[in-house]
Parts: sequence; C-alpha cells; structure tokens
Amino acid sequence: MRHQVVIIGGGPSGLLLGQLLHGIGVDAVILERKTRDYVLSRNRAGVLERGMLDLMKQAGIDSRAHAEGLPHDGTLIAYEGDMFRVDLAGHAGHSIMVYGQTEVTRDLYDARDSIDAVTHFEVSNVVINGADTDQPSVSFDKGGQSHRIECDYVAGCDGFHGVSRQTIPENLRQEFEKVYPFGWLGILSETPPVNHELIYANSPRGFALCSMRSPTLSRYYIQCSMADTVEDWSDEAFWTELKRRLPDDVAAQLVTGPSIEKSIAPLRSFVTEPMRWGRLFLCGDAAHIVPPTGAKGLNTAASDVHYLFQGLKAWYQDKNPEGLDQYSEKALARVWKAERFSWWFSSLMHRFPDQSEFDLRMQKAELDFLRSNDAAQKAMAENYVGLPY
Ligand code: FAD
Ligand code: DHB
Repeated sequence: MRHQVVIIGGGPSGLLLGQLLHGIGVDAVILERKTRDYVLSRNRAGVLERGMLDLMKQAGIDSRAHAEGLPHDGTLIAYEGDMFRVDLAGHAGHSIMVYGQTEVTRDLYDARDSIDAVTHFEVSNVVINGADTDQPSVSFDKGGQSHRIECDYVAGCDGFHGVSRQTIPENLRQEFEKVYPFGWLGILSETPPVNHELIYANSPRGFALCSMRSPTLSRYYIQCSMADTVEDWSDEAFWTELKRRLPDDVAAQLVTGPSIEKSIAPLRSFVTEPMRWGRLFLCGDAAHIVPPTGAKGLNTAASDVHYLFQGLKAWYQDKNPEGLDQYSEKALARVWKAERFSWWFSSLMHRFPDQSEFDLRMQKAELDFLRSNDAAQKAMAENYVGLPY
C-alpha cells in the first residue's frame, strides 16, 4: 500500500489535517486505534477560536458550527461572591464559538464519508519506520493481519498516549512538564445553562466553571482531588458543591437535573521539543497538553494543523520545503504562548494545597487588577479568543 501522507490518530487534529489535504488533492490515510463510535463518545472541548473556525471553513465543514454553535462576545469571572465581565469582542475584536469537540469530530467524519478517503479503525501495534530517511513507512495490525503503508510523510496526531512522540529518539527530544495537584470533575446535564455566557469561578472551596453545549445542554466542572473517583460524586453532591462555589445569585438560578455524563480529568502542562523528526511531524496533544482552564487544547491542536498543512501544501504544490522545515519552530512559538496563558489562568482560578496566605493575597490582588484594569482585560481577551497564527 502507498499513500502520500499517513496520519496516525483519528481525533480532531488528524481528521482536520486529512480533510484539508484532501482539498488540495493530497491523498492521506488515517489510522485510528479505537472505533469511530468510541472517538465520537469522548466528551471534551467546548470553545472554538476564530482560527479553528477558519480552518473548519477551509475544510468545508463549518456550516453546522455556524448554524448551531453559540457565539459568545464575553466571559464572566466570579470571586468573593461577585462577578465581572471581560468583553472579549470589545477588547480583542472578535468572539469565540461554543460548539463541542464531539460535534466538530462528527462533522469531520461525515465529511470524510463523502470523499473516498481511507480510514482504518481498530488498528494496533502501529510502528513508524524510517522517519529519518527518505522512505518512511507505517506498519500496523488490523483484524489479525499485518499491514504496511509506504508514504512521503507521517503526521503524528495520536494524542498524549500515542506512539508518534515516543518514536523520536529520547536523546533528540526534550520534554517540559508540570502536573497540577488536582483534577476537574465534569458533568453534562440536559438542563438550561445557568447563564448565557461562561462563568469561571474562583472560590475558597476551589474552582468551578459553568459552560454549555446548547440552550438545553449544560456542561459544568468543579476542581476535585485526583484521589476522587466518579463514584464518590453523586449528582446531588456535585450540584451542592457547584452551588457553594458560585455567587449566591447565580447559585439560586442554577437548574439541576440528572447528569448524562460524568468524568474526572487530570490537569497537566506538557511540551515536547522539537515537533518534527525527519519526515514525522507531531500535531496536537501528541506534542503538548495544557490544563483546560481557558479552553486552549483543541485550539492549539488546530494551529499545529494550520502550520503543517501550509508546509505540506507548499511542498506538494511548489516543491518549496520552507514551511515543513520551519514547522516545529513556528508551531512551538504559538504553543508556548497558549501554555503560558493556560498556566496563568489555571494558577489564578484554582486553590492549591500548598497555597500560603501570601499566595492567596497575590491571587486576590491579580483578580482585583484584572477586574479594574482595561489593559489587563485586553491581554486576557486577546489570549482567550486566540492569538493570530
Ligand atoms: P486526541 O483527541 O487525543 O486524538 C488522538 C487520537 O489518536 C485518538 O482518537 C486516539 O484514539 C488515537 N490514537 C492514540 N494512539 C494511537 C495509535 N497508537 N494508533 C492510532 N491511533 C491512536 N481542549 C479545549 O480546547 N477545551 C476544553 O474544554 C477541553 N476539555 C478537555 C477535557 C478532557 C476530559 C480532555 C481529556 C481534554 C480536553 N481538552 C480540551 C483538550 C482537547 O480535547 C484536546 O486538546 C484535543 O482532543 C486534541 O486533539 P488531538 O486530535 O490532537 O488528540
Ligand atoms: C469548556 C471547557 C473549558 O476548559 C473551558 O475553559 C471552557 C469551556 C467546556 O467544556 O465547555
């Protein structure tokens, strides 16, 4: 078998890259470890930056996001029983779109169905061979048979636990990591969102976030201990704790109901450098992770896809290797800014087990400053809506 590009991972990064490449006539095959239903059942990101929407437009899959997504011009920050609003559109010139990652992925798979692109699901033992040579290939098992695909390039879009990053020899990569001493317990419930814009809350009991997927579907998160399990948290316990972390008037308006999904996610900052080894290019969670505060994970994956797509396009259309040669440098420059913002916003909004009285005063002083200072709000807004590519 031969394809021009082998994409490992059928999550949003891999699917988006595949669709963009198809648009310029480059043949890309996708290898996915799980089933399509499994990938579509994973509940994750909810906020899309303009850059991501632009890429979705280029890929021809943005119509449902525009029809059903919820554009937001601002976001709220709650602390000490009160709230203030950051005018995202006013400060940064554009808004964000609330549209679930699950829906993006569904739109991408639907689009993939309509073209004759090959996706191999439930593959195992994926091995990238000869990434540092001119003739790379990828071998894998499927349905009890071994396969091998020769290709020009390999895109490692296989998430944090994939094989692509591990394929780069240890002595050639450097990893940077910070693990946060808590997790996020998230639920989905078929209830109207408590507010039409997102509320990020800093409270003495820990962080809380009120988000949504639609006017009838709410997504809420609370900071929890990583020792907790989903079984430790009944719906009632979740709602009680969420209300305690929100300003009284917001808590009073919260409509509760049974959860239809509940999960705990760890918080981590992680970057590997470089994001390229020979003909292997890492994209998205395969190369970096951000803590979810600020919704940068999926959006940063999208900016990688943009740089890689531009590089491959210049190569296939004009035999210009510059974009591919500069891929790692360009992608990492934006990645580190998203890492900084996510780390800053996480540090500002959570309670840390070892926080001193001094640390708490610093958090309060920073929130007071953000509340009252236009320049600080502008800096936050520009990062939140997404820095330019
Ligand atoms: P993934 O979505 O991880 O996709 C990788 C794919 O590769 C998977 O389908 C996997 O099955 C497949 N794969 C793995 N190994 C192999 C292999 N060996 N062979 C073949 N296939 C393989 N981001 C935000 O922006 N906002 C949020 O609100 C947000 N919330 C999140 C909540 C949770 C619980 C989690 C876990 C993440 C969240 N993120 C959020 C992050 C966001 O979901 C990710 O950044 C995004 O999914 C990255 O996309 P990706 O395609 O790079 O990786
Ligand atoms: C969502 C998740 C986030 O991490 C965030 O900052 C905003 C929204 C969400 O899942 O809706």
